[in-house]
Amino acid sequence: MAWLVFGYLSGSWLAAISVCRIAGVGDPRRCGSGNPGFSNVLRLYGPRLAGATLLLDALKGVPIVLASKLMALPVSWQGLIGLAVLLGHSYPVWYGFRGGKAVASALGVLLVLTPGVALVSVGVWTLLAWRLKTAAMASLLSALVAPLACIWLAPAYVGVVGGLSLLVLLRHGLNIRRLRRGDEPRLGRR
Ligand code: G3P
Repeated sequence: MAWLVFGYLSGSWLAAISVCRIAGVGDPRRCGSGNPGFSNVLRLYGPRLAGATLLLDALKGVPIVLASKLMALPVSWQGLIGLAVLLGHSYPVWYGFRGGKAVASALGVLLVLTPGVALVSVGVWTLLAWRLKTAAMASLLSALVAPLACIWLAPAYVGVVGGLSLLVLLRHGLNIRRLRRGDEPRLGRR
């Protein structure tokens, strides 16, 4: 239980808010898409702050998930701890339970649990974001590809990666509605 609480609390710190506060720019929850994540920071403030947000959000879950793997906890427990990190990011106790979409934090968890799948997801995300200029579409399709890649690369983790992907997909409900309406914000316009 302590593992899950620690995972949740680690995830509950939102890098975008701290990075933007330190840089002295506007709170990403009140600007752009309102999402406290790297895509919104990228559109609002450019690659430097977005890169810092991505790196810190990805890293925050690494210590606890890595510890669970090194201590050879069952795969299902490693997955639950990773899921706790994503739930912390999505429903953070420090910010009134209003968080982000858990894409970067999922990347950090995947890098520890299934590095090959993480690399495939990053490749898919980067290619789609570059081609489609829409972060949410890249995130949705990467989340769908990850469990499929897992079937080949890390079969023991298919259920775990499927669970993480499901949460990421569920967190994109607003983006899916905007994509259908055709007013999803595009990358590369500031
Ligand atoms: O990384 C989150 C992304 O998939 C969507 O973010 O700001 O475009 O809603 P945003």
